[in-house]
Amino acid sequence: MKNIVVLTGAGMSAESGIATFRDADGLWEGHDVMEVASPEGFYNNPELVLEFYNQRRAQLKSVKPNQGHFRLQKLEENYNVHIVTQNVDDLHERSGSTSVLHLHGELRKVRSIKNEQLVYSWEEDLVLGDLCEEKSQLRPHIVWFGEAVPMIDQAVELVEKADVLVIIGTSMQVYPAAGLVNYVQHGAPVYFIDPNPSVKESDFNNLTIIKEGASKGMEQLLTVLL
Ligand code: OAD
Repeated sequence: MKNIVVLTGAGMSAESGIATFRDADGLWEGHDVMEVASPEGFYNNPELVLEFYNQRRAQLKSVKPNQGHFRLQKLEENYNVHIVTQNVDDLHERSGSTSVLHLHGELRKVRSIKNEQLVYSWEEDLVLGDLCEEKSQLRPHIVWFGEAVPMIDQAVELVEKADVLVIIGTSMQVYPAAGLVNYVQHGAPVYFIDPNPSVKESDFNNLTIIKEGASKGMEQLLTVLL
């Protein structure tokens, strides 16, 4: 079977009711992104940051995967599909996709502030005083601005082996994620699904833009790929 690699961003989950980032002028659910998604923000006001992610984690219980997620999962009937997502939600997993690499971390995990190897599944609220086994404070398992992206090498390896690359719902503003498209082998078709695409077809070799939301865009793509 051929390999399809799918890069997804916040737009993938928009139809599930999860807000994107840049559609709201750099505010994330009403907060300055740097206030809630940077080490400095956490240092300045840890309670606010923990509460912010507690709300995002709680929100996961009330949202569901959309047709875009399910249609993506359907590709697994005919292809080896690997998803590389910038999203911290679990909607790809919940729609049945079997290979999901989270570049920017996961809401349902936390880790030690001192030893980043100590990562735990976490379903409830996280508060100051919740400690890892080495007695350090726990923080959300999220890659904040200015932090390294440990999964990027694995993501590059996947993209290099892709026969087809699909990109859905990302503004291509945040690196290194936005640079992954440059690792696709020459000649491999690239499909970009976004109602407001930040790239044009002449920007990359063999690029087709599907100017639709994730559900409709995936419906169109399935007619091409299946
Ligand atoms: P952005 O908010 O920057 O971009 C969202 C993209 O989704 C835009 O291009 C929209 O046009 C598109 N979009 C909106 N509705 C859509 C729909 N129904 N279907 C498909 N696409 C739709 O989000 P990202 O590119 O994911 O990082 O942002 C990248 C990173 O910046 C995030 O992972 C996050 C953020 O700060 C961290 O939290 C570390």
